[in-house]
Amino acid sequence: MANSQSPITNHQSRNKKVALITGITGQDGSYLAEFLLKKGYEVHGVKRRTSLFNTDRIDHLYHDPHIKGLDLTLHFGDMTDSMNLTRIIQEVQPDEIYNLAAMSHVAVSFETPEYVSNADGTGTLRILEAVKLLGLTKKTRIYQASTSELYGKVQEVPQTETTPFYPRSPYAVAKMYAYWITVNYREAYDMFACNGILFNHESPVRGETFVTRKITRAASKIALGLQDKLYLGNLDAKRDWGHAKDYVKMMWLILQADEPEDWVIATGVTTPVREFVRMAFAYAGVELEFKGEGIDEVGYIKSVNEERFSSLITNHKLQITDLLGKEVVAVDPRYFRPTEVDLLIGDPSKAEQKLGWEREYKLEELVNDMMQSDLKLMTKDQYLQDGGYKTMNYFE
Ligand code: NAP
Ligand code: GDD
Repeated sequence: MANSQSPITNHQSRNKKVALITGITGQDGSYLAEFLLKKGYEVHGVKRRTSLFNTDRIDHLYHDPHIKGLDLTLHFGDMTDSMNLTRIIQEVQPDEIYNLAAMSHVAVSFETPEYVSNADGTGTLRILEAVKLLGLTKKTRIYQASTSELYGKVQEVPQTETTPFYPRSPYAVAKMYAYWITVNYREAYDMFACNGILFNHESPVRGETFVTRKITRAASKIALGLQDKLYLGNLDAKRDWGHAKDYVKMMWLILQADEPEDWVIATGVTTPVREFVRMAFAYAGVELEFKGEGIDEVGYIKSVNEERFSSLITNHKLQITDLLGKEVVAVDPRYFRPTEVDLLIGDPSKAEQKLGWEREYKLEELVNDMMQSDLKLMTKDQYLQDGGYKTMNYFE
Protein backbone atom coordinates (compact mmCIF):
# COMPACT_ATOMS: atom_id res chain seq x y z
CA MET A 1 0.00 0.00 0.00
CA ALA A 2 1.28 3.42 -0.84
CA ASN A 3 1.02 6.56 1.26
CA SER A 4 -2.22 7.42 2.95
CA GLN A 5 -4.15 10.62 2.60
CA SER A 6 -5.85 13.18 4.74
CA PRO A 7 -9.35 13.09 3.37
CA ILE A 8 -12.42 15.23 3.84
CA THR A 9 -14.97 12.60 4.78
CA ASN A 10 -18.40 12.34 3.26
CA HIS A 11 -20.07 10.01 5.74
CA GLN A 12 -22.79 12.43 6.81
CA SER A 13 -24.23 12.35 3.31
CA ARG A 14 -23.88 8.55 3.14
CA ASN A 15 -25.73 7.80 6.34
CA LYS A 16 -23.21 5.20 7.50
CA LYS A 17 -21.86 4.61 10.96
CA VAL A 18 -18.30 5.87 11.21
CA ALA A 19 -15.56 4.10 13.14
CA LEU A 20 -12.02 5.27 13.87
CA ILE A 21 -9.47 2.56 14.69
CA THR A 22 -6.08 3.41 16.18
CA GLY A 23 -3.62 0.56 15.59
CA ILE A 24 -5.39 -0.49 12.38
CA THR A 25 -2.18 -1.99 10.97
CA GLY A 26 -1.89 -4.41 13.91
CA GLN A 27 -3.35 -7.90 14.34
CA ASP A 28 -6.62 -6.80 15.98
CA GLY A 29 -6.95 -3.60 13.94
CA SER A 30 -6.89 -5.56 10.70
CA TYR A 31 -9.52 -8.09 11.80
CA LEU A 32 -11.69 -5.35 13.29
CA ALA A 33 -11.50 -3.22 10.12
CA GLU A 34 -12.59 -6.22 8.06
CA PHE A 35 -15.44 -6.94 10.50
CA LEU A 36 -16.72 -3.34 10.53
CA LEU A 37 -16.49 -2.95 6.75
CA LYS A 38 -18.61 -6.08 6.39
CA LYS A 39 -21.13 -4.49 8.76
CA GLY A 40 -21.35 -1.47 6.44
CA TYR A 41 -19.29 0.97 8.49
CA GLU A 42 -17.17 3.75 7.06
CA VAL A 43 -13.82 2.89 8.60
CA HIS A 44 -10.94 5.26 9.34
CA GLY A 45 -7.59 4.13 10.66
CA VAL A 46 -4.57 5.80 12.19
CA LYS A 47 -1.25 4.54 10.90
CA ARG A 48 2.28 5.62 11.66
CA ARG A 49 4.70 6.91 9.12
CA THR A 50 7.28 4.16 8.67
CA SER A 51 10.28 3.89 6.37
CA LEU A 52 8.88 0.66 4.90
CA PHE A 53 5.22 -0.13 4.15
CA ASN A 54 3.54 -1.39 7.35
CA THR A 55 0.11 -2.15 5.91
CA ASP A 56 0.51 -5.83 4.93
CA ARG A 57 -2.36 -6.89 7.17
CA ILE A 58 -4.90 -4.49 5.64
CA ASP A 59 -3.76 -4.27 2.03
CA HIS A 60 -6.56 -6.64 0.98
CA LEU A 61 -9.13 -4.15 2.34
CA TYR A 62 -7.74 -1.10 0.63
CA HIS A 63 -8.28 0.44 -2.79
CA ASP A 64 -6.49 3.06 -4.80
CA PRO A 65 -6.89 6.25 -2.69
CA HIS A 66 -7.75 8.23 -5.83
CA ILE A 67 -10.96 6.26 -6.32
CA LYS A 68 -13.94 8.08 -4.81
CA GLY A 69 -16.35 6.50 -2.32
CA LEU A 70 -13.76 4.66 -0.22
CA ASP A 71 -14.98 2.91 2.89
CA LEU A 72 -11.52 2.63 4.36
CA THR A 73 -9.39 5.73 4.85
CA LEU A 74 -6.02 5.93 6.53
CA HIS A 75 -4.62 8.94 8.36
CA PHE A 76 -1.04 9.43 9.43
CA GLY A 77 -0.85 9.74 13.17
CA ASP A 78 0.79 8.73 16.41
CA MET A 79 -0.46 8.10 19.91
CA THR A 80 2.19 10.45 21.26
CA ASP A 81 0.90 13.46 19.27
CA SER A 82 -2.13 15.17 20.83
CA MET A 83 -2.66 17.76 18.11
CA ASN A 84 -2.60 15.14 15.40
CA LEU A 85 -5.09 12.87 17.20
CA THR A 86 -7.42 15.79 17.94
CA ARG A 87 -7.37 16.91 14.31
CA ILE A 88 -8.14 13.41 13.04
CA ILE A 89 -11.05 13.01 15.46
CA GLN A 90 -12.38 16.42 14.46
CA GLU A 91 -12.21 15.55 10.76
CA VAL A 92 -13.66 12.06 11.09
CA GLN A 93 -16.40 12.84 13.69
CA PRO A 94 -16.53 9.14 14.62
CA ASP A 95 -19.53 7.40 16.16
CA GLU A 96 -17.13 4.82 17.61
CA ILE A 97 -13.43 4.93 18.44
CA TYR A 98 -11.53 1.69 18.96
CA ASN A 99 -8.27 2.57 20.71
CA LEU A 100 -6.07 -0.40 19.82
CA ALA A 101 -2.75 1.34 19.17
CA ALA A 102 -0.03 0.39 21.62
CA MET A 103 3.50 -0.85 21.97
CA SER A 104 2.06 -4.24 22.83
CA HIS A 105 5.11 -6.44 23.51
CA VAL A 106 5.50 -7.07 27.24
CA ALA A 107 9.20 -8.04 27.11
CA VAL A 108 10.09 -5.01 24.97
CA SER A 109 8.32 -2.71 27.44
CA PHE A 110 11.09 -3.39 29.98
CA GLU A 111 13.50 -1.83 27.48
CA THR A 112 11.31 1.13 26.45
CA PRO A 113 9.36 1.94 29.63
CA GLU A 114 9.08 5.71 29.14
CA TYR A 115 7.85 5.39 25.56
CA VAL A 116 5.30 2.76 26.60
CA SER A 117 3.88 4.98 29.34
CA ASN A 118 3.53 7.76 26.77
CA ALA A 119 2.00 5.76 23.89
CA ASP A 120 -0.07 3.19 25.82
CA GLY A 121 -0.93 5.22 28.93
CA THR A 122 -1.03 8.94 28.08
CA GLY A 123 -2.06 8.08 24.51
CA THR A 124 -5.40 6.87 25.86
CA LEU A 125 -5.86 10.13 27.77
CA ARG A 126 -5.21 12.04 24.52
CA ILE A 127 -8.10 10.25 22.80
CA LEU A 128 -10.52 10.79 25.70
CA GLU A 129 -9.58 14.43 26.14
CA ALA A 130 -9.89 15.12 22.39
CA VAL A 131 -13.42 13.70 22.38
CA LYS A 132 -14.29 15.89 25.37
CA LEU A 133 -12.70 19.07 23.97
CA LEU A 134 -14.41 18.61 20.61
CA GLY A 135 -17.83 18.36 22.28
CA LEU A 136 -18.33 14.76 21.11
CA THR A 137 -19.03 13.15 24.48
CA LYS A 138 -22.64 12.37 23.62
CA LYS A 139 -21.90 11.21 20.08
CA THR A 140 -18.70 9.16 20.26
CA ARG A 141 -18.42 5.79 22.01
CA ILE A 142 -14.91 4.67 22.97
CA TYR A 143 -13.45 1.17 23.27
CA GLN A 144 -10.18 0.90 25.21
CA ALA A 145 -7.97 -2.15 24.55
CA SER A 146 -7.32 -3.23 28.11
CA THR A 147 -5.58 -6.44 28.93
CA SER A 148 -5.35 -9.50 31.18
CA GLU A 149 -1.76 -8.35 31.86
CA LEU A 150 -3.39 -6.02 34.41
CA TYR A 151 -3.88 -9.06 36.68
CA GLY A 152 -0.13 -9.85 36.51
CA LYS A 153 0.70 -11.60 39.77
CA VAL A 154 -2.81 -12.92 39.98
CA GLN A 155 -4.79 -12.28 43.15
CA GLU A 156 -7.62 -14.64 42.24
CA VAL A 157 -8.20 -17.65 39.94
CA PRO A 158 -9.96 -17.32 37.55
CA GLN A 159 -9.82 -13.57 36.94
CA THR A 160 -13.07 -11.61 36.69
CA GLU A 161 -14.09 -7.96 36.29
CA THR A 162 -13.66 -7.51 40.07
CA THR A 163 -10.29 -9.24 40.56
CA PRO A 164 -7.72 -6.71 41.88
CA PHE A 165 -4.91 -5.71 39.48
CA TYR A 166 -1.21 -6.39 40.14
CA PRO A 167 0.66 -5.35 36.98
CA ARG A 168 4.11 -6.89 36.41
CA SER A 169 5.65 -4.89 33.55
CA PRO A 170 5.95 -1.30 32.31
CA TYR A 171 3.43 -2.31 29.63
CA ALA A 172 0.89 -3.47 32.21
CA VAL A 173 1.43 -0.42 34.42
CA ALA A 174 0.83 1.89 31.42
CA LYS A 175 -2.29 -0.09 30.53
CA MET A 176 -3.45 0.26 34.14
CA TYR A 177 -3.36 4.05 33.78
CA ALA A 178 -5.28 3.71 30.51
CA TYR A 179 -7.87 1.49 32.20
CA TRP A 180 -8.55 3.90 35.07
CA ILE A 181 -8.50 7.09 32.98
CA THR A 182 -11.16 5.47 30.79
CA VAL A 183 -13.28 4.68 33.87
CA ASN A 184 -12.68 8.19 35.20
CA TYR A 185 -13.80 9.97 31.99
CA ARG A 186 -16.87 7.75 31.88
CA GLU A 187 -17.82 8.73 35.43
CA ALA A 188 -16.73 12.37 35.29
CA TYR A 189 -18.15 13.35 31.88
CA ASP A 190 -20.83 10.73 31.36
CA MET A 191 -19.01 9.31 28.34
CA PHE A 192 -19.71 5.93 26.73
CA ALA A 193 -16.16 4.70 27.35
CA CYS A 194 -15.49 1.00 28.03
CA ASN A 195 -12.59 -1.30 28.80
CA GLY A 196 -12.42 -4.69 27.13
CA ILE A 197 -10.11 -6.72 29.40
CA LEU A 198 -9.03 -9.14 26.72
CA PHE A 199 -7.00 -12.24 27.42
CA ASN A 200 -4.36 -13.38 24.89
CA HIS A 201 -5.70 -13.79 21.39
CA GLU A 202 -3.71 -15.00 18.42
CA SER A 203 -4.09 -15.66 14.70
CA PRO A 204 -2.15 -16.32 11.51
CA VAL A 205 -1.29 -12.58 11.44
CA ARG A 206 -0.08 -12.42 15.05
CA GLY A 207 3.22 -10.49 15.39
CA GLU A 208 6.12 -12.86 14.80
CA THR A 209 7.77 -12.30 18.20
CA PHE A 210 4.79 -13.26 20.37
CA VAL A 211 5.25 -16.77 21.62
CA THR A 212 2.48 -18.54 19.67
CA ARG A 213 3.53 -17.18 16.29
CA LYS A 214 7.20 -17.73 17.08
CA ILE A 215 6.29 -21.38 17.73
CA THR A 216 4.11 -21.95 14.65
CA ARG A 217 6.65 -20.31 12.35
CA ALA A 218 9.51 -22.36 13.82
CA ALA A 219 7.58 -25.66 13.84
CA SER A 220 6.80 -25.10 10.14
CA LYS A 221 10.39 -24.29 9.26
CA ILE A 222 11.79 -27.22 11.25
CA ALA A 223 9.39 -29.60 9.50
CA LEU A 224 10.52 -28.24 6.14
CA GLY A 225 14.21 -28.50 7.07
CA LEU A 226 14.69 -24.71 6.99
CA GLN A 227 15.55 -24.27 10.70
CA ASP A 228 17.27 -26.49 13.27
CA LYS A 229 16.01 -25.36 16.63
CA LEU A 230 13.48 -23.18 18.41
CA TYR A 231 14.77 -21.27 21.45
CA LEU A 232 12.17 -20.19 23.99
CA GLY A 233 12.02 -18.69 27.47
CA ASN A 234 9.60 -19.76 30.20
CA LEU A 235 7.88 -22.96 29.05
CA ASP A 236 5.80 -23.16 32.23
CA ALA A 237 3.90 -19.88 31.72
CA LYS A 238 0.19 -20.49 31.24
CA ARG A 239 -2.07 -18.41 29.04
CA ASP A 240 -5.77 -18.27 28.18
CA TRP A 241 -5.49 -18.24 24.39
CA GLY A 242 -8.33 -17.46 21.96
CA HIS A 243 -8.62 -16.51 18.28
CA ALA A 244 -8.41 -12.77 17.40
CA LYS A 245 -11.30 -13.19 14.93
CA ASP A 246 -13.63 -14.09 17.83
CA TYR A 247 -12.32 -11.27 20.00
CA VAL A 248 -12.83 -8.32 17.61
CA LYS A 249 -16.52 -9.16 17.42
CA MET A 250 -16.65 -8.58 21.18
CA MET A 251 -15.02 -5.16 20.84
CA TRP A 252 -17.93 -4.15 18.64
CA LEU A 253 -20.57 -5.75 20.90
CA ILE A 254 -19.13 -3.89 23.91
CA LEU A 255 -19.88 -0.59 22.15
CA GLN A 256 -23.40 -1.72 21.15
CA ALA A 257 -24.41 -2.50 24.79
CA ASP A 258 -27.08 -0.41 26.51
CA GLU A 259 -24.69 0.86 29.19
CA PRO A 260 -20.93 1.55 29.15
CA GLU A 261 -19.18 -1.10 31.25
CA ASP A 262 -15.91 -3.03 31.53
CA TRP A 263 -15.76 -6.64 30.35
CA VAL A 264 -13.54 -9.71 30.68
CA ILE A 265 -13.20 -11.49 27.34
CA ALA A 266 -11.52 -14.90 27.67
CA THR A 267 -12.02 -18.60 26.94
CA GLY A 268 -11.84 -19.88 30.54
CA VAL A 269 -9.15 -22.43 29.59
CA THR A 270 -5.45 -22.07 30.34
CA THR A 271 -2.54 -23.92 28.69
CA PRO A 272 1.24 -23.96 29.30
CA VAL A 273 3.57 -22.69 26.56
CA ARG A 274 5.13 -26.19 26.41
CA GLU A 275 1.76 -27.68 25.46
CA PHE A 276 1.27 -25.09 22.70
CA VAL A 277 4.65 -26.19 21.28
CA ARG A 278 3.54 -29.82 21.36
CA MET A 279 0.27 -29.02 19.62
CA ALA A 280 1.99 -27.02 16.86
CA PHE A 281 4.39 -29.85 15.99
CA ALA A 282 1.58 -32.41 16.28
CA TYR A 283 -0.27 -30.59 13.49
CA ALA A 284 2.53 -31.69 11.13
CA GLY A 285 2.47 -35.25 12.46
CA VAL A 286 5.54 -34.72 14.67
CA GLU A 287 5.34 -35.97 18.26
CA LEU A 288 7.54 -34.10 20.72
CA GLU A 289 8.69 -35.19 24.13
CA PHE A 290 10.39 -32.95 26.70
CA LYS A 291 13.17 -33.96 29.07
CA GLY A 292 15.36 -32.15 31.60
CA GLU A 293 14.43 -29.20 33.77
CA GLY A 294 14.82 -25.43 33.91
CA ILE A 295 17.33 -24.05 31.44
CA ASP A 296 18.42 -27.61 30.59
CA GLU A 297 14.98 -28.66 29.35
CA VAL A 298 14.86 -29.75 25.70
CA GLY A 299 12.15 -30.96 23.35
CA TYR A 300 13.05 -33.75 20.96
CA ILE A 301 11.20 -35.64 18.24
CA LYS A 302 9.85 -38.89 19.61
CA SER A 303 7.95 -40.11 16.58
CA VAL A 304 6.65 -38.99 13.20
CA ASN A 305 3.33 -39.91 11.67
CA GLU A 306 4.68 -40.51 8.17
CA GLU A 307 1.33 -40.34 6.43
CA ARG A 308 0.38 -37.01 8.02
CA PHE A 309 3.88 -35.56 7.62
CA SER A 310 4.22 -36.50 3.96
CA SER A 311 0.74 -35.23 3.12
CA LEU A 312 1.71 -31.75 4.35
CA ILE A 313 5.44 -31.60 3.65
CA THR A 314 5.70 -32.71 0.06
CA ASN A 315 9.21 -31.48 -0.56
CA HIS A 316 11.04 -32.12 2.69
CA LYS A 317 14.79 -31.81 2.79
CA LEU A 318 15.20 -34.20 5.71
CA GLN A 319 14.48 -37.91 5.79
CA ILE A 320 12.05 -38.87 8.51
CA THR A 321 14.82 -40.99 10.06
CA ASP A 322 16.93 -37.80 10.33
CA LEU A 323 14.16 -36.22 12.37
CA LEU A 324 13.75 -38.98 14.94
CA GLY A 325 15.50 -38.11 18.22
CA LYS A 326 16.47 -34.63 16.97
CA GLU A 327 16.46 -31.88 19.64
CA VAL A 328 14.32 -29.12 18.21
CA VAL A 329 13.36 -27.02 21.27
CA ALA A 330 15.70 -25.52 23.86
CA VAL A 331 15.49 -22.89 26.58
CA ASP A 332 17.40 -19.62 26.27
CA PRO A 333 17.29 -17.40 29.38
CA ARG A 334 17.48 -14.28 27.19
CA TYR A 335 13.71 -14.70 26.72
CA PHE A 336 13.02 -14.66 30.47
CA ARG A 337 11.41 -11.46 31.77
CA PRO A 338 12.55 -9.48 34.84
CA THR A 339 9.09 -10.14 36.30
CA GLU A 340 6.86 -12.81 34.81
CA VAL A 341 3.11 -13.36 34.67
CA ASP A 342 2.87 -17.08 35.45
CA LEU A 343 -0.80 -17.82 35.02
CA LEU A 344 -3.75 -16.19 33.29
CA ILE A 345 -7.22 -17.66 33.09
CA GLY A 346 -10.29 -15.51 32.63
CA ASP A 347 -13.88 -16.00 33.66
CA PRO A 348 -15.98 -14.68 30.76
CA SER A 349 -19.38 -15.33 32.45
CA LYS A 350 -20.49 -11.70 32.44
CA ALA A 351 -19.84 -11.27 28.70
CA GLU A 352 -21.43 -14.66 27.97
CA GLN A 353 -24.59 -13.79 29.86
CA LYS A 354 -25.01 -10.12 28.95
CA LEU A 355 -23.40 -9.89 25.49
CA GLY A 356 -23.97 -13.42 24.24
CA TRP A 357 -20.19 -14.07 23.94
CA GLU A 358 -19.56 -17.30 22.05
CA ARG A 359 -16.37 -18.59 20.52
CA GLU A 360 -16.01 -20.15 17.11
CA TYR A 361 -12.43 -21.34 17.70
CA LYS A 362 -11.16 -23.73 20.38
CA LEU A 363 -7.41 -23.82 21.10
CA GLU A 364 -6.81 -26.76 18.77
CA GLU A 365 -8.55 -24.95 15.91
CA LEU A 366 -6.49 -21.84 16.59
CA VAL A 367 -3.26 -23.85 16.45
CA ASN A 368 -4.40 -25.55 13.24
CA ASP A 369 -5.31 -22.22 11.62
CA MET A 370 -1.90 -20.77 12.49
CA MET A 371 0.04 -23.88 11.43
CA GLN A 372 -1.81 -24.19 8.14
CA SER A 373 -0.98 -20.59 7.31
CA ASP A 374 2.67 -20.71 8.43
CA LEU A 375 3.36 -23.98 6.63
CA LYS A 376 2.11 -22.33 3.43
CA LEU A 377 4.25 -19.26 4.06
CA MET A 378 7.39 -21.27 4.76
CA THR A 379 6.77 -23.56 1.80
CA LYS A 380 6.87 -20.42 -0.34
CA ASP A 381 10.30 -19.66 1.17
CA GLN A 382 11.39 -23.16 0.34
CA TYR A 383 10.33 -22.78 -3.31
CA LEU A 384 12.21 -19.49 -3.50
CA GLN A 385 15.34 -21.09 -2.05
CA ASP A 386 15.05 -24.03 -4.44
CA GLY A 387 14.74 -21.52 -7.28
CA GLY A 388 18.03 -19.91 -6.25
CA TYR A 389 16.55 -16.87 -4.47
CA LYS A 390 17.71 -15.74 -1.06
CA THR A 391 15.16 -15.74 1.76
CA MET A 392 15.69 -14.05 5.09
CA ASN A 393 15.76 -15.68 8.49
CA TYR A 394 14.51 -13.33 11.17
CA PHE A 395 15.85 -13.67 14.69
CA GLU A 396 14.92 -11.74 17.84
P1 NAP B 1 -0.20 -5.27 17.59
O1 NAP B 1 -0.37 -6.30 16.54
O2 NAP B 1 1.14 -5.08 18.23
O3 NAP B 1 -0.69 -3.86 16.97
C1 NAP B 1 -0.44 -2.65 17.61
C2 NAP B 1 -0.84 -1.52 16.70
O4 NAP B 1 -0.54 -0.27 17.34
C3 NAP B 1 -0.08 -1.48 15.37
O5 NAP B 1 -0.95 -1.01 14.37
C4 NAP B 1 1.02 -0.46 15.64
O6 NAP B 1 1.50 0.15 14.47
C5 NAP B 1 0.21 0.54 16.45
N1 NAP B 1 1.06 1.45 17.24
C6 NAP B 1 2.03 1.14 18.11
N2 NAP B 1 2.55 2.27 18.65
C7 NAP B 1 1.88 3.31 18.09
C8 NAP B 1 1.96 4.72 18.21
N3 NAP B 1 2.84 5.31 19.03
N4 NAP B 1 1.12 5.48 17.48
C9 NAP B 1 0.22 4.91 16.62
N5 NAP B 1 0.12 3.58 16.46
C10 NAP B 1 0.93 2.79 17.18
O7 NAP B 1 -1.23 -5.52 18.80
P2 NAP B 1 -2.60 -6.34 18.80
O8 NAP B 1 -2.29 -7.73 19.21
O9 NAP B 1 -3.33 -6.09 17.56
O10 NAP B 1 -3.34 -5.68 20.04
C11 NAP B 1 -4.20 -4.55 19.86
C12 NAP B 1 -4.37 -3.84 21.21
O11 NAP B 1 -4.94 -4.74 22.15
C13 NAP B 1 -3.08 -3.36 21.84
O12 NAP B 1 -3.38 -2.17 22.54
C14 NAP B 1 -2.72 -4.44 22.82
O13 NAP B 1 -1.93 -3.91 23.88
C15 NAP B 1 -4.08 -4.87 23.29
N6 NAP B 1 -4.23 -6.26 23.72
C16 NAP B 1 -3.82 -7.28 22.92
C17 NAP B 1 -4.03 -8.59 23.31
C18 NAP B 1 -3.59 -9.75 22.45
O14 NAP B 1 -3.50 -10.86 22.98
N7 NAP B 1 -3.37 -9.56 21.16
C19 NAP B 1 -4.68 -8.85 24.54
C20 NAP B 1 -5.11 -7.78 25.32
C21 NAP B 1 -4.89 -6.49 24.90
P3 NAP B 1 2.67 -0.54 13.56
O15 NAP B 1 1.96 -1.57 12.73
O16 NAP B 1 3.19 0.59 12.78
O17 NAP B 1 3.66 -1.15 14.52
N1 GDD C 1 7.38 -13.60 23.35
C1 GDD C 1 7.89 -14.71 23.89
N2 GDD C 1 8.99 -15.27 23.31
N3 GDD C 1 7.30 -15.24 24.99
C2 GDD C 1 7.82 -16.37 25.49
C3 GDD C 1 8.93 -16.99 24.94
C4 GDD C 1 9.55 -16.41 23.79
O1 GDD C 1 10.55 -16.89 23.26
N4 GDD C 1 9.19 -18.12 25.65
C5 GDD C 1 8.27 -18.20 26.61
N5 GDD C 1 7.44 -17.13 26.53
C6 GDD C 1 6.34 -16.83 27.47
C7 GDD C 1 6.37 -15.42 28.06
O2 GDD C 1 7.34 -15.31 29.09
C8 GDD C 1 4.94 -15.28 28.52
O3 GDD C 1 4.78 -15.84 29.79
C9 GDD C 1 4.15 -16.13 27.50
O4 GDD C 1 5.11 -16.92 26.80
C10 GDD C 1 3.35 -15.30 26.49
O5 GDD C 1 4.19 -14.34 25.93
P1 GDD C 1 3.73 -13.42 24.69
O6 GDD C 1 3.26 -14.28 23.59
O7 GDD C 1 4.87 -12.48 24.40
O8 GDD C 1 2.45 -12.65 25.23
P2 GDD C 1 2.14 -11.93 26.61
O9 GDD C 1 1.20 -12.81 27.36
O10 GDD C 1 3.37 -11.50 27.30
O11 GDD C 1 1.40 -10.61 26.13
C11 GDD C 1 0.39 -10.69 25.12
O12 GDD C 1 -0.89 -10.86 25.72
C12 GDD C 1 -1.33 -9.79 26.56
C13 GDD C 1 -2.70 -10.19 27.13
O13 GDD C 1 -2.52 -11.01 28.24
C14 GDD C 1 0.45 -9.38 24.33
O14 GDD C 1 -0.41 -9.47 23.22
C15 GDD C 1 -0.01 -8.18 25.17
O15 GDD C 1 -0.09 -7.02 24.34
C16 GDD C 1 -1.40 -8.51 25.75
O16 GDD C 1 -1.83 -7.44 26.56
